[in-house]
Amino acid sequence: MGLKPATNPDVEAATIELTIDGKTVTAKDGVSLYDVISSTGKIIPAMCYHYTFDPFGSCGMCLVMQEGKKAPVRSCTAKAAAGMMIRTEGDDLFQARKKAVEKHLSVHPLDCPVCDADGHCELQDMAFQHGVTNLANAKQKFIPEDTRSPVLDFNMNRCIACAECINVCKDVLMIDALQFMKKGGFNQVVAKGDLPLACEFCGDCLAVCPVGAITNKFSKYLYKPWQMKKTTTTCNYCGDGCQMYLETKDTEVIRVTSPLSWKNKWGDRADTGKGHGGLCVKGRFGFEYMDSSNRLKRPLLRKGNQLVEVPWLEAMHTAVDRFADIRKKHGPEAIAGLITARCTNEELYLFQKLMRVAFRTNNLDSSARYGHMNFVRASKAALGIGRTPNDWEDLTKAKAVLVIGSNLTETNPLTSVRIKEAIRVYKAQVAVFDTAITNLGKLASHPFLIKAGTEGLVIDGLVKTAINLDLVDEESVKKHPQAFAALKSAVSSISLEQVAAKTGVTVEQFKEVATIFAESPRSIILCAEGIVRQPDGYQNVLKLIDLAWITGKLGRPGCGVNTVTEEPNEQGAVDMGVAPEFLPGLAFSDDQAMRDKLAKAWDATLPQTGSGAHLTEILKRCRSGQIRALYVVGENPLATLPASMEVRAGLDRLELLVVQDPFLTETGQMAHVVLPATTSAEKDGTFTNLEGRVLRCRQAMDAIGESVPDWQIMTALANGLGCQWEYDSANDIQAEIMKLIPGYYNLGQPKKIVPTADHYLSNGYAAAVGGRYKGVRSETAAPFTLQMGQLLYHSGKLSTLAPGLIKIGPNTGRIRMHPADMERLGLQDGAMVKLSSERGSLQIGVQVDQSVAPNTCFFPEHFNEPPVKDLMAVHIDPITGVPAFKRTGVTIEKV
Ligand code: SF4
Ligand code: SF4
Ligand code: SF4
Ligand code: FES
Repeated sequence: MGLKPATNPDVEAATIELTIDGKTVTAKDGVSLYDVISSTGKIIPAMCYHYTFDPFGSCGMCLVMQEGKKAPVRSCTAKAAAGMMIRTEGDDLFQARKKAVEKHLSVHPLDCPVCDADGHCELQDMAFQHGVTNLANAKQKFIPEDTRSPVLDFNMNRCIACAECINVCKDVLMIDALQFMKKGGFNQVVAKGDLPLACEFCGDCLAVCPVGAITNKFSKYLYKPWQMKKTTTTCNYCGDGCQMYLETKDTEVIRVTSPLSWKNKWGDRADTGKGHGGLCVKGRFGFEYMDSSNRLKRPLLRKGNQLVEVPWLEAMHTAVDRFADIRKKHGPEAIAGLITARCTNEELYLFQKLMRVAFRTNNLDSSARYGHMNFVRASKAALGIGRTPNDWEDLTKAKAVLVIGSNLTETNPLTSVRIKEAIRVYKAQVAVFDTAITNLGKLASHPFLIKAGTEGLVIDGLVKTAINLDLVDEESVKKHPQAFAALKSAVSSISLEQVAAKTGVTVEQFKEVATIFAESPRSIILCAEGIVRQPDGYQNVLKLIDLAWITGKLGRPGCGVNTVTEEPNEQGAVDMGVAPEFLPGLAFSDDQAMRDKLAKAWDATLPQTGSGAHLTEILKRCRSGQIRALYVVGENPLATLPASMEVRAGLDRLELLVVQDPFLTETGQMAHVVLPATTSAEKDGTFTNLEGRVLRCRQAMDAIGESVPDWQIMTALANGLGCQWEYDSANDIQAEIMKLIPGYYNLGQPKKIVPTADHYLSNGYAAAVGGRYKGVRSETAAPFTLQMGQLLYHSGKLSTLAPGLIKIGPNTGRIRMHPADMERLGLQDGAMVKLSSERGSLQIGVQVDQSVAPNTCFFPEHFNEPPVKDLMAVHIDPITGVPAFKRTGVTIEKV
């Protein structure tokens, strides 16, 4: 066990020697004495201690005797010093700790039988360990329970004032939503100002509370901890891939708990860079969709205008016969498939195999096409890797982080916690460029509110400044003089003053950030939806790679250009080859060696190189009648894409639409066959998170109704179409993937990859770079920019099926505006306006939101009511086919 860094881990503290129970121990000067004792393997009671935050010293349990002192000392807050003689055991210490337990219990209600923490309570354990059987002078508190929060209840009668909840919220999450307040003669934990709790609702305070003082509203009084089946699995909401425990009973999910817990308190803070074990609100409280009563329980078949329940056999026969018929009559090019990146790697692999082998088509795509593909393609083209080079630890220990176009706290909350740790523990300088006032921006050393649509220009400004100030890394650029000369020439006509005027970042600020980034030993760039889901996403990632290259941040340990993913397995979808341009293993579809390997392994002929359509092309071909049958797994293009994409018209024209999903989605309602699939809680497999870690998803409960895991349905479909697949479990599929992509299953440890741009920089770079720095895309002259984006409380449309998350983050049906804009337009909160774009107009309410930048308005992409998405224009990336439809110019008129 290591020791937590006292302040700045880069500053080496002196090594000292002290004696613990007669043994000489070495430690760093000034660290917590408790940590030094723990590092010897000795665990002494410590009720208010948790390794993720600084010691608080309230519970009086970690007592030790220090030679020269008459009374016991609290080892958690005492600092280790040279020559200390410490004793950790003895009857005197046992009695002193027992007294501390008695003190806590004497003001604690003995309502264990109705307490959620019964059997999982540190106070109970301590009372048991110390034989506390008699309480003299016990007194009750009679504090009414605070039930004002939508997810947590606070029963302060049970609180032992350890402050773990306050400390985790303040130190680890940097939210600081809780405080102690003296009320009714007792110190009570209250939300700041004793108002109803308004925070991120991550529930980490609940996780570390050692007693039952904070309880989970969703599971309170339902079951005792020992009555539930506890399964370790991976969250299915975002690409962070948090580990969680799903606690279930048969077909019911009772609650979600996390590795972060008061029980798991003896760790090493040097390891928290890999994650502190907590969850965000979606992971902890968003589980209710899994056992929702709205789940599909039986297959559906269209009969006349109705979808009616039918037995599996009938549904499968219909699907297989009609697919086979269409393939026979119109060829494999008349069939296409789309799949969600919420499926496991094994299912994604099987899906592309089904499309390529059973249907014999390359018309296939996944939801990674909605943005992540821009990053993958740019990173593959320039660096040969096609994924992020850095892991969470690199991010946490970076000295400079450049976050551009990413409201991380909302989209990837636990990645955001890593940057918070970089700021707090490692003193990183963080520059945040965003079109909204983000949570991370408030904590960053260099926050910039940029004008909507100018992310690409900001990168131009940084590259230009790095060159102007000669912040270049000689070694990196001198290897590629031609490429560097071409880059210099490409940015030569850029006027920094003009960039400053257009973006809102001053020339001086560009200089400061570029200098910090270039001069820091470990610099990381993190981009996301503001880059990859916007027009020019592919080119903008390449420009970020330019910046990293010239400043020497490519391939250097702890440096690199990264992104985050919205869905849990977007990286896995691309790695598994669910795209017309990729085969499994991120091999390009014309990679002959991989084609031969797959053809041999699958005993099949692969569709022709260069054939196949991606998402937007598939939808276009559905409209033109070229594609006649579409197989949709977990995707819902009708609800996701704006009206201008004419998805409904395309689906309407299909002869066969088969939708496989745990729910009857908007797309499913148009289907001819609907196949009920399970959620991630009812199946085994793996997800690849944004760091490249392959993480297990484990079956935690019985399947709902007659739903079946996606891989089983795909196997049955393939066999119906003439294949002879013999997969009995997700493990069988895994074994096949392992042979085709050796080393992919990295057991949670991503393989360190070293990106190299040498080939890219010396093969066509000089000719291509000129077109990249071409100034800002011409935007409409509309007075406002409407942006659609994600909310912390939601993920795609899936979270809207979880009532708990809807309670926390309901669809208000209103656009959010800056108060100054509302005042200028004479609008009160709740007023109705006419919102118009080139695509149409609708009436909608407005709501005030301080975090929205002036001259912009925001609507969450999770909701289609009213259909704000249909006002969006779509730009399709000419290289990657990524449809960008999250931002458009609008007018707002009072009605
Ligand atoms: S739920 Fe999370 S953000 Fe809210 S008070 Fe608890 S720890 Fe803080
Ligand atoms: S609510 Fe729980 S974690 Fe917070 S101070 Fe009380 S006992 Fe400690
Ligand atoms: S949604 Fe993302 S950050 Fe939240 S618990 Fe799930 S994986 Fe972790
Ligand atoms: S652990 Fe030291 S006083 Fe609580």
